[in-house]
Amino acid sequence: MTLVFHNLRKQYGSHVAIDDVSTVFQPGLIHGIIGPNGAGKSTLINMTAGSYLVSGGRISLDDRTLSGLKKYQIANSGVARTYQNIRLFDQMTVLENLEVCFYPTQVGQVWREILWPPFAAKRRINRRDVCMELLSFFGLQHYADAEAGSLPYGRQRMLEIARALVTNPRVLLLDEPAAGLNHHETTELTARLAELKSPDRIMIVVEHDMDLVMSVCDRIVVMHHGKLLFQGTPAEVQASSDVQLAYLGTANDIDDIKTAAKDRRAQLGIRARRRT
Ligand SMILES: Nc1ncnc2c1ncn2[C@@H]1O[C@H](COP(=O)(O)OP(=O)(O)OP(=O)(O)O)[C@@H](O)[C@H]1O
Ligand SMILES: [Mg+2]
Repeated sequence: MTLVFHNLRKQYGSHVAIDDVSTVFQPGLIHGIIGPNGAGKSTLINMTAGSYLVSGGRISLDDRTLSGLKKYQIANSGVARTYQNIRLFDQMTVLENLEVCFYPTQVGQVWREILWPPFAAKRRINRRDVCMELLSFFGLQHYADAEAGSLPYGRQRMLEIARALVTNPRVLLLDEPAAGLNHHETTELTARLAELKSPDRIMIVVEHDMDLVMSVCDRIVVMHHGKLLFQGTPAEVQASSDVQLAYLGTANDIDDIKTAAKDRRAQLGIRARRRT
């Protein structure tokens, strides 16, 4: 299984946000996408999940071309995502936020559930078990009956990731999962992400928190002004003078990159909290 960007391009009007990006994402690895503000990271996630159309090039998962498919078709191909700004169903309970995600991929089962109550009851229990297991994994089991919107911000971030995992996706796309989290929460998230790594799953994490990226990612793509500037292991990225230039406009070492990224993350956290 591989997810491939083939000469991807995205234009918003006359603005070229993604310019000829080609790369390969493999299962069993956590792929980081980093880059300064406006580099095109979220645009890559949005095109992969089908939220935005591609303007040129192609995205494929194995032999299937994803770009051009509808969002639900891409989801049914095994792609799930979280958003840079949390998008939960605030008025539903924590458990309902997960349970509701069972339905879209199993529309064919709806009639069976309606016509045969024992089948519906069995599936309801199964659904609940899977969801409770996921909630426990993220330490959210005690919040199961609370309204999602009432959860502390850090718990909402975890809930969003749990929700993305309900369908057991082959491709998990996380757009700034650590935005707005405090140090303790980020450490917890880092541990959870490492545990989610699986030979059957491609994980892509867009992130500004360099400690998280450098500790949990196996491969990193560095975006700059819509172009793929560099790709390699965390060590190779840290050693790249091109990356240092992109972040800082001057060649400096990784500590300066981390500081620059943290400043950016702090701004984002404030912005994210304000929006939710
Ligand atoms: N819906 C849109 N309409 C018009 N321009 C957009 C849209 N979404 C993104 N852009 C522009 O495309 C470029 C890339 O944006 P994108 O959100 O992908 O960057 P990013 O790397 O995720 O940045 P950040 O780190 O701030 O989240 C930016 O110049 C942005 O202003
Ligand atoms: Mg973004």
